[in-house]
Amino acid sequence: MSTEPSELTGTFITIEGGEGSGKSTLSRLLQNSLNKIGHHVTLCREPGGTILGEQLRAALFSQARSEVSTEILQAAPSPLTELLVFSAARAQLLKEIILPALGDGDTVICDRYTDSTFAYQHYGRGLDRQVIETAVRLTVGNLKPSLTILLDLEPEQGLARHGIVNQKDLFGETSPVGGNNYLDFESLAFHQKIREGYLEMASLEPDRWLVLDAGEDPDVIARIALDAILQLIE
Ligand code: TYD
Repeated sequence: MSTEPSELTGTFITIEGGEGSGKSTLSRLLQNSLNKIGHHVTLCREPGGTILGEQLRAALFSQARSEVSTEILQAAPSPLTELLVFSAARAQLLKEIILPALGDGDTVICDRYTDSTFAYQHYGRGLDRQVIETAVRLTVGNLKPSLTILLDLEPEQGLARHGIVNQKDLFGETSPVGGNNYLDFESLAFHQKIREGYLEMASLEPDRWLVLDAGEDPDVIARIALDAILQLIE
């Protein structure tokens, strides 16, 4: 096994998109198809994928919506804290999983990577791009994916898939219920900025990005993504 960038013989692929865009379904479908034709695949997701990474994920996301209170909202991570926690989880994932797998010649498919940080912490939160670039360089050096698949979807549709619906409470106030974590409950405008950010990044680097309509049938999406991956690895 080698972890020198020049000796990484595997292929690094990332999947990006907003909430409820179907990234985990696509990862699994791609893994199955690639396994069937004899390719070894390592799947991972961010944040998480290692013991420490899952602990960092839990530290960020364990608070259930029903427990949200003024104190908890005050204790919500700042954009800089988010950047640093996601980066820490990523550094560990790289060391433990991604670099060894690429060194072994695997196809690595990662559900979210550095583009999520630009989408959420820069386009979404407004954190300075250069601050994020510095953190990304420190965390991953030059390790860029060969292919990034963007599952593009209207935020309303994605949030609905995550079970978020606007419900009226006893006082007639409308508030969202359902969802996976506190980021799901950001405003629609926040999720729209993320979608636009992704589309902008994809337009700036068209050779790396494959933009797919996440409203399509999952098998159709997987077929197109598989073709693009096979062009890289065969
Ligand atoms: P997750 O439940 O995995 O959502 P999804 O299924 O949409 O991937 O939660 C990951 C959340 O973390 C998601 O809202 C995006 C956010 N995130 C960032 O804000 N910055 C990052 O760098 C990463 C990796 C994720």
